[in-house]
Amino acid sequence: MNIKAGTKLSDAIHNNYLLLPILNRFGIQLGFGDITVEQICEKQEVNLKFFLEIVNSFLDKNYFPEAELQNFPLKLIVDYIKRSHVFYLDFKMPQIEQMINNLYELAPSENKKSFQLIRNFFAEYKKDLFNHIEKEEKEVHPYILKIDQAYYSNTITGDIVELVNKESISKYADDHDNVEDKLYDLKNLIIKYLPPIPDYTLSNAILFELFRLERDLNDHSRIEEKVLVPKMQAIEKQILESNEY
Ligand SMILES: [Fe+2]
Ligand SMILES: [Fe+2]
Repeated sequence: MNIKAGTKLSDAIHNNYLLLPILNRFGIQLGFGDITVEQICEKQEVNLKFFLEIVNSFLDKNYFPEAELQNFPLKLIVDYIKRSHVFYLDFKMPQIEQMINNLYELAPSENKKSFQLIRNFFAEYKKDLFNHIEKEEKEVHPYILKIDQAYYSNTITGDIVELVNKESISKYADDHDNVEDKLYDLKNLIIKYLPPIPDYTLSNAILFELFRLERDLNDHSRIEEKVLVPKMQAIEKQILESNEY
């Protein structure tokens, strides 16, 4: 299903419920009746075209409209990325952590060790994800927004040129590790080695959450690597070329 301006939001969710957290990132919550995508975007003051590119690229990997997405202001893209970070750190991770703790509590005493292993692994992962996001928010985003602002207001000073030479988004791109990969190991640990517990629905629910988080993170990284980085590289290139001495 390709979502268009006239698509009813409720139909979009019936078609793929994984879109729900993406909608939340645009400030859209449940209870939207028969409202269409265009109407909700107007109501929430969301850029309709940007919204369509984001949801459609989430639904269909082959649709990924790099060139179109790169037309949007960097601030819009960075804002969207930041809202995804909030979703991971403030909602998803604490929720999964709570579920893993519940699982540990339910585990029979002779098997506690295996469940503790999962807890430790998750704690490690949480740290990695936090560091990954912190670096983006504290180092990368401020740089992008600063360069973007100077570029569009046509105030490229020597300091800006120096900053581009020093920082360069390619450095971020080269170091950008796949935080999703470790989730695979965690899922594998649960799938292959978790001892049985009376309430198997909880372990299934944890796995479902991990699969969904992994998918969401994959989409997120794609936007960072395929939209944010190339767009920024193009701006850096222009700044450097027009300021050669
Ligand atoms: Fe990120
Ligand atoms: Fe990232």
